[in-house]
Amino acid sequence: MGEVIEAGTLEGVASTTIKKLHKAGLVTLEAIAVTPPREIVELTGMGVDTAIKVNTLARLQVDPGFVSATDLLETRKHMMKCKTGSSEFDRIMGGGIETGVITEFIGEFGSGKTQICYTLSVLAQRPTEEGGLGGRVCVIDTEGTFLPERIVQIAESRGYDPQEILSNVLIARAYNSDHQIMLVKNLPQVAQEHDIKLVIVDSMIGHFRGEYIGRGTLAERQQKIGGVLGNLLRVAEAFNLSVVLTNQVQAKPDQAYGDPNKPAGGHVMAHACTHRVYLRKGRQNTRLVQVIDSPYLPEEKIRIAVTEAGICDEDGNTNMEYDPDMDYEEEFSLDIEEEVEEEDEE
Ligand code: GTP
Ligand code: MG
Repeated sequence: MGEVIEAGTLEGVASTTIKKLHKAGLVTLEAIAVTPPREIVELTGMGVDTAIKVNTLARLQVDPGFVSATDLLETRKHMMKCKTGSSEFDRIMGGGIETGVITEFIGEFGSGKTQICYTLSVLAQRPTEEGGLGGRVCVIDTEGTFLPERIVQIAESRGYDPQEILSNVLIARAYNSDHQIMLVKNLPQVAQEHDIKLVIVDSMIGHFRGEYIGRGTLAERQQKIGGVLGNLLRVAEAFNLSVVLTNQVQAKPDQAYGDPNKPAGGHVMAHACTHRVYLRKGRQNTRLVQVIDSPYLPEEKIRIAVTEAGICDEDGNTNMEYDPDMDYEEEFSLDIEEEVEEEDEE
């Protein structure tokens, strides 16, 4: 996420402008560089010319990040994907939860975020030939809701040895945001020592939202969240592991039409998470899933179910067998769309 900007970081930019950027949570060069000037104006109230200037200056200072396409291809060859338990879910994720990036699950209480985390904790341990990541799992639990019993249940339902699965999930309870920051800082060591292939933070910003209340503390909060996300992203890249975060939604008071919820954490979260997945409660034990703001995944709504075996397809299929030849990108006719629209109107 980079260093926090201060007066003088951006040449010729007044310290009052820097303060405005800080207040809006735009605290790093990276954040300013990737935020369009129009949005900077909206967030800070500064003039358009100033916004264009700070955006341009920030972009010039940010490492252009060029690597040769050959290197990039090589890196992506090592990228793995972890099955989710639902073939439909896998399909809209381009095959599963990617390594090397952060995937964020967003939704209101009971929407299934933690259920996805449980299921991934089991499935990530499967060998890569079976669609797993072939490694251990590390969970940072900020809410005290991560129960080993549920992992046992999911493992048993899927025919895996629950004791073995349990022994490969490391759980740390984060008691406050500083504790969470510390646990994330220790991740490189943990990942190395324990061959971690999946890191889960459930939830990412709950503590921060609870502890930093009011306008004045927003910049500090966003800066700290940005720091944690930066560390997580580096771990994901360095160890080629998947990072999965959960995030609550907060009400958008000014929204009269459509979905009145938006992910918490603002731009800092939006920029750090490569894939953002929005979950909503559907009828019975189903959940509606939609990828939002993804650079290359389709923003299509699908339905999954939460069962004893964790996440699975709507029809209850747990997708135990993995078909490496399956074309997950294949076009798929979307006959559930109408149904989803109907539910939206309820
Ligand atoms: P918060 O952490 O409160 O924000 O919510 P969350 O999104 O993490 O919700 P979570 O994943 O914990 O989902 C809880 C819901 O999953 C419950 O309301 C149940 O409907 C469902 N659920 C949990 N366990 C089971 C199970 O064993 N079988 C079935 N069918 N559903 C379950
Ligand atoms: Mg939860």
